[in-house]
Amino acid sequence: MTDADLSRIAAQVRALARGSGAPEEKLQKICELLRDSVPHYDWVGFYLVRGSEELVLGPFAGAPTEHVRIKFGQGICGQAAERLEVFVVQDVSKEDNYLSCSPEVRSEIVMPVFRDGVLVGELDIDSHSIAPFTQEDREFLEEVCREIAFLL
Ligand code: SME
Repeated sequence: MTDADLSRIAAQVRALARGSGAPEEKLQKICELLRDSVPHYDWVGFYLVRGSEELVLGPFAGAPTEHVRIKFGQGICGQAAERLEVFVVQDVSKEDNYLSCSPEVRSEIVMPVFRDGVLVGELDIDSHSIAPFTQEDREFLEEVCREIAFLL
């Protein structure tokens, strides 16, 4: 993917986010767009912060997962929520605190989503490749998170 490709996809995300439809429908389309547009994004989904230190699965594109509710601190998603940090795991077999969705998944990036400085959810992306995530992915996904934060 070139920078121009990622800029084009970011513009499509912005258009979907600001377009018509219910927030959940827009987030669903954004998951599908990301999964279909970036070859190493094999599962793309949102987790929403709900209740006391818990993440609940929202719209996603890819195989169904059993991890519908995740406590803060559990797995890569829960660690990212607890520490309020981006987590990039280039080889999930080397991560002890990991919740497996499918044996095909080899790597994962989790982006916290903030609204007015408060954690409201996460964008979670799984890949079937080892070490596919670059600084460009991270910057691109930070932009995506800024664009969609008001929908969570
Ligand atoms: N692997 C994640 C769980 C969510 S699934 O990837 C969809 C984790 O360790 O938190």
